[in-house]
Amino acid sequence: MIDVAEKNASTDVPVHPLLSARWSSRAFDPGHELADGQLTALLEAARWAPSASNTQPWRFAVARRGTAEHGAVLGTLAGGNQVWARDASALVVVAARTTGTDGAAQPWAVYDAGQAVAHLSVQAEAEGLAVHQMGGFDRDRLTSALSDDVTPLVVVAVGLRGEPARLAEPFAGRETAARVRLPIDDLLLTVRA
Ligand SMILES: Cc1cc2nc3c(=O)[nH]c(=O)nc-3n(C[C@H](O)[C@H](O)[C@H](O)COP(=O)(O)O)c2cc1C
Repeated sequence: MIDVAEKNASTDVPVHPLLSARWSSRAFDPGHELADGQLTALLEAARWAPSASNTQPWRFAVARRGTAEHGAVLGTLAGGNQVWARDASALVVVAARTTGTDGAAQPWAVYDAGQAVAHLSVQAEAEGLAVHQMGGFDRDRLTSALSDDVTPLVVVAVGLRGEPARLAEPFAGRETAARVRLPIDDLLLTVRA
């Protein structure tokens, strides 16, 4: 059993537990199924993210485990992602429309889609679910599998946390390792005035 306290963010001051307790699981319960309401809640949270000029450039493709769509998305993942992501209850492809319907560029589309995923992640934590984003996938294959002219950005594994003992190394070790971040001081820039 995992010591979840070990996975909590070590913060200089308290932050909301939905943020400090979130982490990217690799061990998922292979028998868990997402309730329709939970899935809708995740998409609602994403839908209500802010975006440049309210363009809402994010698009999602949901593939529940056990469906043909799931097999198609799973097959585009890098091998090191497939081994654990296959057990998640669903794989959600997140894509962006980088041009508007008028053909004009939407330069903030990728930024906006990232914010939508952040919303989705926090809602998942509130629902008792885990998410793990993956940039390791075959871009050409996933792009051609999607129904619209979009740029796929990440595939998000969504499910219930499972037993780390289900994982082989190196994934088992990563699953139980403490999470680390750069100190705030390293993130601060100065403004030339
Ligand atoms: C855009 C993006 C791409 C990522 N790609 C992968 C991936 O392909 N495989 C993987 O195991 N984790 C991937 N991750 C997860 C990160 O490695 C993880 O978020 C980071 O190590 C911090 O860990 P934490 O989320 O548990 O705090 C990705 C995360 C993001 C945001």
